[in-house]
Amino acid sequence: MSFPIVRQRRLRRTPALRRMVRENNLDVNDLIYPLFIIEGENIHEEISSMPGVYRQSLDKLEAEMNEVTALGIPAVILFGIPEEKDEAASGAYATDGIVQEAIRRIKSTHPDMVVVTDVCLCEYTSHGHCGVIKDEVVQNDITLELLAQTALSHAEAGADIVAPSDMMDGRVGAIRSQLDDSGFEDIPIMAYSAKYASAYFGPFRDAADSTPAFGDRRSYQMDPANGRESLIEVDLDLLEGADIVMVKPALSYMDVIYRVREVTDVPVAAYNVSGEYAMIKAAAANGWIDEAKVVLETMVSFKRAGADLILTYHAKDVARWLSEGHWPNQ
Ligand code: PBG
Ligand code: ZN
Repeated sequence: MSFPIVRQRRLRRTPALRRMVRENNLDVNDLIYPLFIIEGENIHEEISSMPGVYRQSLDKLEAEMNEVTALGIPAVILFGIPEEKDEAASGAYATDGIVQEAIRRIKSTHPDMVVVTDVCLCEYTSHGHCGVIKDEVVQNDITLELLAQTALSHAEAGADIVAPSDMMDGRVGAIRSQLDDSGFEDIPIMAYSAKYASAYFGPFRDAADSTPAFGDRRSYQMDPANGRESLIEVDLDLLEGADIVMVKPALSYMDVIYRVREVTDVPVAAYNVSGEYAMIKAAAANGWIDEAKVVLETMVSFKRAGADLILTYHAKDVARWLSEGHWPNQ
């Protein structure tokens, strides 16, 4: 009987040893917290498929920002839910649109908060698609102009980063040149580069009332069966001037996060989407899993796959658990 010379367990013996050889860590500075802003007043309504996540009106933002700031979370990403929707998505690029107003509010009370804005039309179109429709087809090039206008209106309101999520071809370039022509050459673009046509967005679409009225998003979002194609999307976005590239969803696309990390040195973001959040919350509510442990394990898995930044509805809980020492002492 021979005994092993190499014993991996030697460095797992104590918590301190494990901390010393830990390859990846969680940091509150990696987190971006998504917020749903709805028109109206005194609204703070929980989204039924996303327990702990709310649609909030502008007057609720200051309290929310106080909480986010106290937790040390550096950034939020804003999604707007307008009262009126139309064919041209006018609310998306209106100077006094819901997101534009939210940016101004946040910046007036919390100037250091990094405000990221989702740039897309689907929350503002009457049909729920991410672009302009003609003959039942989402038109690429007409949409680019509206996306560029939307990004510009966000920058003018004070956004720190714009994040196009529409998946039209050429949107990063169109937004970059619009921003540059208007004196916003210092505003970075976080591109939803590898965004898949995913069923995991279901709860978000309930929250934002943005389910397409007909058809689906498969003519613009990526086919979940494709991995290599994500690298083409990333290449194009980088050539057009993206500063940060994103993979979305995150959990069933860990291989994509890993591949993207391998080919680029710009920051990589992972979007832990609504359906992923809903699954964990549902299992936790049933007492089937330990929520804090499962969430922290999920977060560090994104880091291990290669993500630098994590957009997640769990952000406030993660920040709290980190400050309470649940990580890295477990
Ligand atoms: C808008 C957008 C969506 C999400 C982020 N930006 C919805 C979609 O593409 O249908 C999904 C976020 C989530 O599910 O958490 N295009
Ligand atoms: Zn969209």
